[in-house]
Amino acid sequence: MVDFTHGPAGRGFFSPQRYEADIYDCEVEGNIPRELNGAFYRVGGEWFYPPPAEDDSPFSADGYISSFRIHDGIVDFKSRWIKTPRFLNNLAARRQLYGVYRNPFTADPSIQYADKPYLGTVMNTAPIAHGGKLFALKEDAQPYEIDPNTLDTLGPWDFDGRFKAQTFSAHPKVDPVSGDMICYGYEATGLCTDDLWIYVISPAGRVTREYRVKVPYVSLLHDMVLTQKYIIFPVYGYVTSMERLKQGKLHWGWDKNMPTYWGLLPRAGEGKDMRWFKGPPSCVIHTINAFDDGDKVYVDAPISDGNPFPFFPSVDDTPWSPQLAQHTIRRLTFDLTSAQDTYTEQVFDRQDIVDLARVDDRFLSLPYKYVYSLMNDPARPYDAARAGQGNRVINTYFRYDLTRGEWRKYFVGDVHNLQEPSFIPRNADAPEGDGFLIGTASNYADMRTELVIVDAVEMEELARVILPFRMTPQVHARWYSNKELPLNVEPLPPYTGRVQKS
Ligand SMILES: [Fe+2]
Repeated sequence: MVDFTHGPAGRGFFSPQRYEADIYDCEVEGNIPRELNGAFYRVGGEWFYPPPAEDDSPFSADGYISSFRIHDGIVDFKSRWIKTPRFLNNLAARRQLYGVYRNPFTADPSIQYADKPYLGTVMNTAPIAHGGKLFALKEDAQPYEIDPNTLDTLGPWDFDGRFKAQTFSAHPKVDPVSGDMICYGYEATGLCTDDLWIYVISPAGRVTREYRVKVPYVSLLHDMVLTQKYIIFPVYGYVTSMERLKQGKLHWGWDKNMPTYWGLLPRAGEGKDMRWFKGPPSCVIHTINAFDDGDKVYVDAPISDGNPFPFFPSVDDTPWSPQLAQHTIRRLTFDLTSAQDTYTEQVFDRQDIVDLARVDDRFLSLPYKYVYSLMNDPARPYDAARAGQGNRVINTYFRYDLTRGEWRKYFVGDVHNLQEPSFIPRNADAPEGDGFLIGTASNYADMRTELVIVDAVEMEELARVILPFRMTPQVHARWYSNKELPLNVEPLPPYTGRVQKS
């Protein structure tokens, strides 16, 4: 019997949906820019069967992908589960067989996969396109290829056997100068292993380089950052061990005493050339961008001083602190000529932002000006009578000019909660930041999801696509144009019955 009454799946707006959807020709308010020809892909978690424990992480939910296909001012919507072995085995058994977050020792005895932990993946974190293929990503397994038009799951992809790591993070970076994708897997040789394997994949999708590195300690290495000279990795206070997993705990616990390490790997070097810098405890789930200037390397990220995820509790039972979970935009400076293993940190602004940020990807790894991210602007209204009390509210996209300290903000509405946007350049030659933001918002009052398209210079809304139902918030989303993926225009819904002619 399926029962979602308890646990992290939630009720109300966040209640599991348990359906796949197709909408041909969505309702649109405003005018969708005619420059937009592509698809906005969202990947997140959607429980089909209830989680195995009430304190499981939402990151254990089944992978689910959706797309807004936009062309000629028209939008078609589609959503599908990502058909991992876990999803299919659960369906066959008509129940949840798998254990708590990334812990195979807590699975049903009929499912044994501790020596192949990637078989327990839910593939629920991010989409990325490269070499003409679309992938769903989750950092505990290799990518799953997805048909960019039908969203059918095509299966795991190991780049013709040349990607050797068991894992592939959800945050590869594509170098806009070379077109190469830089990607990596941590715990690359199995559960709790300290192997970090890094790969370069050509624009055509071929593995051209491999670097093998050992990390200072096994940590949640969720994101990395790139310059033209370096591949850079943060290691911070989420810790794990086989002992911890055999005790039945979630994969990660937060250890507030662990230092932060940053590893700088020269792209022209080898794994042994990785240089580790050390700083005070902090948390860097996501990065923004980085660039070199001579012997200096600058890394920008939304950084907190403590644990942002209450569902990964402290190893010493310290209560979760919302203050230490706040993120500010910070710049770290690494001096490669220094004999010290330290770095300096500058806080750009004290405003608390969401730990998600985007840049104009044509400037990734290069000097740049604009950060796009989200926040809750408390100066804006929230209609709790219509939208409900106790909901997380992120009501604003912002553009932050790093060179001038200038904020520009877009407010989505007084019953809404925004998710991570993508930046789309107006055209290939447009200056940095000249383009659009696209992203979804939960409309708590009307129990529906809306897609907003915003002018990224003026930060004003251009169009809104209305879905007639709610979608569980994504984890990450990306826009890809019809030049980056072989996109079709949605065919008419099939009809095989008789047609009345007269
Ligand atoms: Fe992420």
